[in-house]
Order: sequence, then C-alpha cells, then structure tokens
Amino acid sequence: MGYTFNLLPSALTKCIFSSTVLSKSQSFSTGLFSSEEDSSLYFTYSGGCNELEVNNLQYEVDTAAQIPWYERLSEFKLPWEIKGNKQTAINKLNLRVRSGQMLAVIGSSGCGKTSLLDIITCRDEGGTMTSGQVLINGKPNTPRVVRKTIAHVRQDDRLLPHLTVRETLVFVAKLRLPTHFTKAQRDKRVDDVIAELRLRQCANTRVGNDYVRGVSGGERRRVSIAVQLLWNPGILILDEPTSGLDSFTAHNLVITLSRLARGNRLILLSVHQPRSDIFQLFDLVVLLTSGSAVYCGTARDMVPYFTSLGYPCPRYCNPSDFYGM
Ligand SMILES: Nc1ncnc2c1ncn2[C@@H]1O[C@H](COP(=O)(O)OP(=O)(O)OP(=O)(O)O)[C@@H](O)[C@H]1O
Ligand SMILES: [Mg+2]
Repeated sequence: MGYTFNLLPSALTKCIFSSTVLSKSQSFSTGLFSSEEDSSLYFTYSGGCNELEVNNLQYEVDTAAQIPWYERLSEFKLPWEIKGNKQTAINKLNLRVRSGQMLAVIGSSGCGKTSLLDIITCRDEGGTMTSGQVLINGKPNTPRVVRKTIAHVRQDDRLLPHLTVRETLVFVAKLRLPTHFTKAQRDKRVDDVIAELRLRQCANTRVGNDYVRGVSGGERRRVSIAVQLLWNPGILILDEPTSGLDSFTAHNLVITLSRLARGNRLILLSVHQPRSDIFQLFDLVVLLTSGSAVYCGTARDMVPYFTSLGYPCPRYCNPSDFYGM
C-alpha cells in the first residue's frame, strides 16, 4: 500500500488519504489502541485529540558536574570549591502543537534538538529545568503520562542485536499490543509496519549493532521507528529519523509521518537541514539556534518572515539550509 502512494502526486495523495481517514474515523470507537478491524497502517488514531504545550522552557546543563570530584584533584580544590560550568541548552522556548499537525524542530548540530525531545519525554539526563513547564493535554508530563501517550524514537538505536527484524517486531508486538489481539492480528500489524517502512528485503536479517554485523544503519533506523509505530501511539516523537537514510527513503519516511499526522496523530520530529521537498511537508517549524527559537510558526510563512526582517532566501536555495546554519 505504501508503494502505491509514493507514485502519486502529493496533492492527490493528500486527497485520497484524507478521504480514507474520514471514512474510517467514523467507524472507530475511542480507546488507546486502534480497533480490531484495522487492516492498514493508515488508521486514524482513535484515542481523541492530544495537545502538547511547552511554556517558557529553560534548561541548563552543568558540564563541570559530570566530571567526578576525585578526577579533578589535580586542581587542588575541595569538592565544594569547584564551581559549576553552566550552559544553557534551551532558552525560553514556547511551542504548541496538536493532533493532526507535524512539527519539525530544525537547526544545526548542538542547537538543542535532542535536549528538547528528551525533556518532553522525561528522559533528560545531566541537566536541570530551571523554569517553564511541558504540558500534555493540559497536564504536566509525568513519566506515567508519557508512557501512555508518547512513542519516542531516540537518536541512537537501542535494539537487540541477535534478533532478526521480524523477530524484533513480533517480540515488541507481544509486549505492547493489547492482550485481546490474536496472533493473526499481531502478525498482520507486523507485516503492515514492515511493508510501510520498506523492510521486506531485510525482514529475516539479524538487526546487529556496532560489533555484530547485521542490517545496514538506515535499515536499523527504520526498525527503531517500526518498533514505535507498532502500538499506534497518539503522539510520535522522533529524533532525527531521516539521518543515515538516502534522500528517496528519507522523503518517503516523512510522507508516511505526514500521513500518520493526518490520521489524528501528533508528530514531533527533529531534523538537520532537511531537503526542500521534505521541508514542504511540515506543518509547523521551530528553528533553533544555540537553544533559542529564532522562528516558531508555520513552515509556509518561514521564508516571508525572514524576508520581512531583511534576510531573503536566495533563489534556488533550500530555506532550511540557508536559515538553519
Ligand atoms: N547531559 C549533558 N551534558 C553535557 N552537555 C549537554 C548535555 N545535554 C546537552 N548538552 C549540550 O547541550 C547542547 C545541545 O545538545 P543536543 O544533544 O540537544 O544537540 P542536538 O541539537 O541534538 O545536536 P545533534 O544534531 O548533533 O544531535 C550541546 O552543546 C550539548 O553539548
Ligand atoms: Mg541530537
């Protein structure tokens, strides 16, 4: 099914997809997981609308605190005399995104993309939130709320290296899909996800890691995404899902994410300077520079905004390359 869409012009794709979504959404009941009749990955998320809000977020990391005091004895200072070295990783950030929208956090390396996604999913380590709050449907983002509503695909792949791609997905399906799913339904879901993420040719190959040779780096990245797609989450957060993928696969992946967003999901992803055709697929964009948002709004209005400030994007230049530096 994924292959059929890829051959269609994007306008037509959107039109077909939205009509599919509309007709299906009418028959779905509410609940965290999709109904049993779902035969395709493009089902509408049936658990109601989600809203994610970040208010005035300030996050600092103490780089000095990570070096243990005994390793700093050469400085001839007692532990309490060692001064911290604070670095602001996120500076007064505000954003709001709701189901049906895809928000991309773009910016150069080290601008704070991973830090932001980790704070939202309560996985930040080594830093302190000095002010602000993150709200999921109006409630603070506690680990329990996050576990129920958010699927987080991290920048590094954490998979079992000795399982094949299919075994990995079957294993996760057994753990994460509701117990009323039969084996046939679980296998169907696994097949759908494998087809969608173009993993058919390596479905029976070992996943591998840095030490055990397995699937390629890009394929492993797609397995990480497949693991999270399996349980049909309402909010999907992906840290650089397109890194390591060729431009065709990266474009297809973002088209898939865009379709998932149209199916009443909230998609938040971080990405380095994306290709111009990928950039056009985003609904909202946050452009970060050294932890500060220099633009937060619709992707369509980004170029006019910077043009009005006196920084027009040169002709034939990709806006995300030009402004994301
Ligand atoms: N726990 C931490 N300890 C030390 N420094 C940190 C920590 N977390 C974030 N930083 C610093 O904050 C900045 C932002 O890091 P972050 O990983 O969010 O960047 P990024 O935008 O995801 O970069 P990349 O695109 O390379 O993944 C970096 O300068 C990084 O060194
Ligand atoms: Mg990162």
